[in-house]
Amino acid sequence: MADDPTPAPEDGRPLIDGFGRTISYLRVSVTDRCDFRCAYCLSDSVTFVPKSEVLRLEELERLCRAFVDLGVSRLRLTGGEPLIRPGFMGLARGLGALVHQGRIRELTLTTNAVRLREMAGELADCGIQRVNISLDTLDAGRFRALTRHGDHERVLAGIEAARTAGLTVKINCVALKGVNEDEFDRLIGWCGERGFDLTLIEVMPLGDAGGTLRSGQFLALDEVRRRLERRWTLEPLSERTGGPARYHRIRETGCRLGLITPISGSFCDSCNRVRLTATGRLYLCLGQEQSVELREPLRAIPAGNLAALHALLRRAVAHKPEGHQFVPGACPASGLPHRPMSATGG
Ligand code: 5AD
Ligand code: SF4
Repeated sequence: MADDPTPAPEDGRPLIDGFGRTISYLRVSVTDRCDFRCAYCLSDSVTFVPKSEVLRLEELERLCRAFVDLGVSRLRLTGGEPLIRPGFMGLARGLGALVHQGRIRELTLTTNAVRLREMAGELADCGIQRVNISLDTLDAGRFRALTRHGDHERVLAGIEAARTAGLTVKINCVALKGVNEDEFDRLIGWCGERGFDLTLIEVMPLGDAGGTLRSGQFLALDEVRRRLERRWTLEPLSERTGGPARYHRIRETGCRLGLITPISGSFCDSCNRVRLTATGRLYLCLGQEQSVELREPLRAIPAGNLAALHALLRRAVAHKPEGHQFVPGACPASGLPHRPMSATGG
């Protein structure tokens, strides 16, 4: 959590943005591709970035390691669907070595779980400790409709494999009005039986995946919490992760419930994170367009010149904006990011 001791940065100076916030958390989208088309994330006609623009895995690892030199202590591999990128396991192994060496506190993964049945054991072996799995519904028919391509049975088998491999599983569920709002009690029970934490996420106006659809489907989690409290005892926990989630202990199950409220909540003051895309663009805020292109500068820096690479990252992070300005149901034309979560990394 945010107040745990953090491994010291190599030159003793943490990575600080223009508002004095220490950057200690990097999310890396290893590919913008995904085999699902979740209605709130990707449209069926999405075009992915050309492969020629994507960083090689060694380049991604080089950037991650430079961030770690500067004190980043938590890495999350995400996408798109990270596990579809060929060679992914090599990257996981390379970064997992940083966990085994005590240079980072954690290496985690966000996935749709389709490939976990085959990959969970090896991922755990690499040093990945926790996985966040997107599961918006327990109903196979709804799942297919919502993801447009998702095989619910395989996803459930993947989740089970992750548990068997000893990975800590957290379920992410995007709360959608009229779609899955009748399932949260069941999901809490299902997660409780398996020892999984559950995080409900307010749908964010990102990208162009059916923008009008999302405005009608926005569901404020304050309201959801009040409904859940009729059935469950939610004990607020003080812990924060530097992100938009607030956690509760569900007394009846013992598991945690996270509520991510980027729209109705405000969390920017304590933001500790930046996001790297597969093409090497560093996004400094999920809700803003500001970004810094790292691919070409990275390629221009000789492998041995760590000082130049560190200076590049320090300059980039200095551009981090103070906060986001999401408006529920706003369309991208109103100045919000055009990129879906699959590009920036959730
Ligand atoms: N709003 C909220 N959550 C989203 N996700 C993807 N797109 C959106 C969006 N527009 C979720 C995914 C995944 C997590 C990383 O982000 O379902 O669980
Ligand atoms: Fe893929 Fe995740 Fe987007 Fe669904 S939300 S389409 S699983 S990247």
